[in-house]
Amino acid sequence: MTILDGKKTSNDIKAEIAESVKEITANGSRPPHLAAVIVGDDGASLTYVGSKVRACKKVGFDSTLIKLSENISEQELLLKVKELNENDAIDGYIVQLPLPKHIDSQKILMAVDPDKDVDGFHPTNFGKMALNLPTFISATPYGIMELLDRYNVETSGKHTVVIGRSDIVGRPVSILMSRKSNPGNSTVTLAHSRTRNIKELTLQADIIISALGSPNFVTENMVKDGVVVVDVGITRAKDDSKKGYKIVGDVDYENVSKKSSFITPVPGGVGPMTIAMLLKNTLQAFLK
Ligand code: GUN
Repeated sequence: MTILDGKKTSNDIKAEIAESVKEITANGSRPPHLAAVIVGDDGASLTYVGSKVRACKKVGFDSTLIKLSENISEQELLLKVKELNENDAIDGYIVQLPLPKHIDSQKILMAVDPDKDVDGFHPTNFGKMALNLPTFISATPYGIMELLDRYNVETSGKHTVVIGRSDIVGRPVSILMSRKSNPGNSTVTLAHSRTRNIKELTLQADIIISALGSPNFVTENMVKDGVVVVDVGITRAKDDSKKGYKIVGDVDYENVSKKSSFITPVPGGVGPMTIAMLLKNTLQAFLK
């Protein structure tokens, strides 16, 4: 069994990006600049955005964190988005999700300039991704593909079962795995909350990508020997630590790993890859 080490791989990628930044600034240019917008003060979202901003510093990017009140109106947020679209000093930006209920997330994401949409959430970029055209691929699915690529995991002709059909992970990764490319060329089943007898499907899977957010959902009796397991779950489970919680995935790692050929741990698997790929997209936005 090989652990798909997202921590190490993301550090490799960050080192490569830092090297590019050195070359850019040595030529007298300013470094790439990522901005992140966060609305409200949800603890988990603040943690994620904080990690993204810290990662920028680590590779030598400029970064701007824009914290907005929970009570901001949709109109005011749209104005902020317009301002960011027009600011030439910012190469790419993200609007952290989820947004408060009174704001229409789709409306906000549609307003982001696709050339600055380093999250790859704009329909133009999502469409290009589906058509195998150059674009920004969303950080989490991109991170999964990069991890499979760097560990030379064979995906061609394999049966991949994706669990969860979210716009951010399940659906895009199901498209990427079926694209005519490497990694890709996989036969994909996209399972979700209405899927019947999911075990019948997972038992046939060569590769399982679980993006559900349901601890211990994938158990030993649901997988075949030699399976490749990518666990995208990030659930905060209460514990006795100082923080008061630990992050757990969707997979019963201890038992499923015994049957796996490759498996991502949680934490230290897909999570750190997500941030590295966001930086990669930002570098790409700068170079355009
Ligand atoms: N919320 C959870 N994941 C993400 C992400 O990748 N990008 C943004 N903007 N919000 C998120």
